Amino acid sequence: MSIERVFVAGAGLMGHGIAQVHAAIGKQVTLYEPELARTVAARVRIAGNLERAVAKRRLTPEARDETLALVTPTADLNEATDADLVIEAVFEDEAVKAALWTKLDEIAKADAIFASNTSSISIDHLAAAVAPARRARFAGMHFFSPVPVMPLVELIRGRETDDETETAIRALAADLGKRVIVSADRPGFIVNRTLMPLLGEAMRAYEEGVGTAEDIDTGAKVGLNHPMGPLELADFIGLDVCLGIMRVLHDGLGGPQFEPPRVLEDLVAAGHLGQKTGRGFHAYPR
Ligand code: CAA
Repeated sequence: MSIERVFVAGAGLMGHGIAQVHAAIGKQVTLYEPELARTVAARVRIAGNLERAVAKRRLTPEARDETLALVTPTADLNEATDADLVIEAVFEDEAVKAALWTKLDEIAKADAIFASNTSSISIDHLAAAVAPARRARFAGMHFFSPVPVMPLVELIRGRETDDETETAIRALAADLGKRVIVSADRPGFIVNRTLMPLLGEAMRAYEEGVGTAEDIDTGAKVGLNHPMGPLELADFIGLDVCLGIMRVLHDGLGGPQFEPPRVLEDLVAAGHLGQKTGRGFHAYPR
């Protein structure tokens, strides 16, 4: 099962990075958002990432141009017709993802692999949105942000995912230079199940006044050698995304360690979603 054409649905923080890394290994990538301006903007963002790499002499100008030329922005879902692999990286909402998969199932060729970049939602629930014949080729392919930098793919096998699909995804991830871990289809999979209790507890400590946001983050960076403190990391992931993941974990597994902290609920309700809005646990002047 050779993967040459990749259709990426969703051109946000994850989608644009996923498109970039596939183009960088020579795949023909179509990047989709319902609004063309958003996918064109995502391509500009990819150009900026590549430009930084050229400036650091990690990439030649020729490689930059070749990579960029392989990314085609579109607002037309029908462009998924000849994709060998469709990766969905839209907002973390089961109904939104399921509705998109149902449409893509009607458009994509019968043997295309479907992979969701969901960070917590059940692969079996999402696979239920496609025809039974497709479900063997439906899996989770969870990337980490920033996608060009983080060398991990969490592969989630649903109840019906077949060995051929796992093998194809493993081969692709190896070509991308990513290590693969395999998770069962349980809420939050492996990484977010272990990460979110840390972020949640840091938020509760902040809420109780145990320490300032700066001191909580410095504790993890200097005392634990984490590249980012937990509050900074939550701001980086997006507080709305963290809240969505914690809700899936709490609904699916129970347990106080997964309960979304009040301060997180309040920040999201106020529209303070972290780096992307300029304010979260920290301020990000623009
Ligand atoms: N896109 C592309 N490349 C980027 C980037 C971006 N957004 N941000 C940084 N980089 C690159 C830089 O260009 C630089 O590359 P070179 O080494 O080739 O020069 C490299 O990353 C390091 O960047 P910086 O020196 O600017 O900054 P840094 O050393 O502070 O590292 C970081 C930045 C890599 C983001 C680091 O802080 C880090 O690893 N943070 C933790 C990230 C993390 O935990 N991600 C997982 C989040 S969880 C998730 O994604 C899953 C989920 O479901 C929620």
